[in-house]
Amino acid sequence: MFETLQSAPADKILALMALYREDPRQDKVDLGVGIYKDADGNTPVLRAIRKAEERLFGSQTTKAYVGLQGDKEFCAAMGEIVIADAVPASRMRVCQAPGGSGALSILAMMINRARPGANVWISDPSWPNHIPLLSGAGLTTQSYPYYDAETGQIRFEAMIEALEEAETGDVLLLHGCCHNPTGADLTLEQWQAVANLCNDKGLLPFVDFAYLGFGDGLQQDAAGLRLLAAQVSEMIIAASCSKNFGVYRERVGAAMLIGANSDEADIAFGQLLSVTRSVYSMPPDHGAAIVRIVLCDPELRADWQLELEEMRQRMEKLRQDFADALRRASNSSRYDFIASQKGMFSRLGLTTQQIETLRENHGIYIVGDSRINIAGLPQGRLDELARAIVATSE
Ligand code: LMR
Repeated sequence: MFETLQSAPADKILALMALYREDPRQDKVDLGVGIYKDADGNTPVLRAIRKAEERLFGSQTTKAYVGLQGDKEFCAAMGEIVIADAVPASRMRVCQAPGGSGALSILAMMINRARPGANVWISDPSWPNHIPLLSGAGLTTQSYPYYDAETGQIRFEAMIEALEEAETGDVLLLHGCCHNPTGADLTLEQWQAVANLCNDKGLLPFVDFAYLGFGDGLQQDAAGLRLLAAQVSEMIIAASCSKNFGVYRERVGAAMLIGANSDEADIAFGQLLSVTRSVYSMPPDHGAAIVRIVLCDPELRADWQLELEEMRQRMEKLRQDFADALRRASNSSRYDFIASQKGMFSRLGLTTQQIETLRENHGIYIVGDSRINIAGLPQGRLDELARAIVATSE
């Protein structure tokens, strides 16, 4: 059987993680995989998460299954921080999922039940796993222009023009905030234009929401998604807790759907749960239980928000400081866009050869599309890094 298989294509983010681990150099710099790092280069367990885990450990009396939907209080709390009151509760359904990717996958499989092989429009560029994940669910993918590497801005007119070709029943994949890999986000005016487009053409918006709280703040980051949710009749959202709760390996996420009315929402939700039953039966509990404890306890929730805000501000400052360092090193404003982009990632606009040179000669690890993880930048070495990048790109 296995002799019929070809080697699977490598995921460029995971391949880079492996290369970094093997590099013995002490001063190597990891700007690859999207995990938050503090000033000491560590990815800490957040204070509120640690306390919630202690509480769970002391109080849990059984490991029996929770159920298909997962932890209902977790689902309600996630619905509240993501959609708030933008949509009447009667039209909204939420189920727990194993991470943001798990949520994307089960939603994609549900779409495939509603419309086999449906066409999903994906931004160019996007997270490298979007295409394999959606095609794996049976969907077709097509890209729309999104980013201008020269200016660091969104090519909004080109995006809308391309989407004019979309057909009723197509799906439009959007990044809720902190676009991965570019850090270039839609303005509220642009979200409004997207809402109009979805309504005019009958497109289903599918929002990947993995970085809530990492851009401008918890409320501001959800504003575009909520604006859209309030105006369209149907929408789906894959939310991740990996980054904003720092629970990466616990695999915590939520799959959300908004139906045109309560009855349709019920039917779609039934299909979604039947997908999960056929794929992994019931979701893992631990991570969602600790996130639920944090969100449902006012004191822990306030402390989580404080720590999330500290992470966000650290990345915002690193963006500004790194843009300044690159300005000094290049004597130009060419990298100024880094300061105004949002969240964890930006693209430097380097060639594959330049990225390899940075890795080999300077131990600087950057994903092959020149995406850097802002949180991985070592605060005390920004000028050194900027000089290496500028020297390599000249
Ligand atoms: C990333 O984009 O680096 C993260 O979302 C981690 C991953 O799974 O790729």
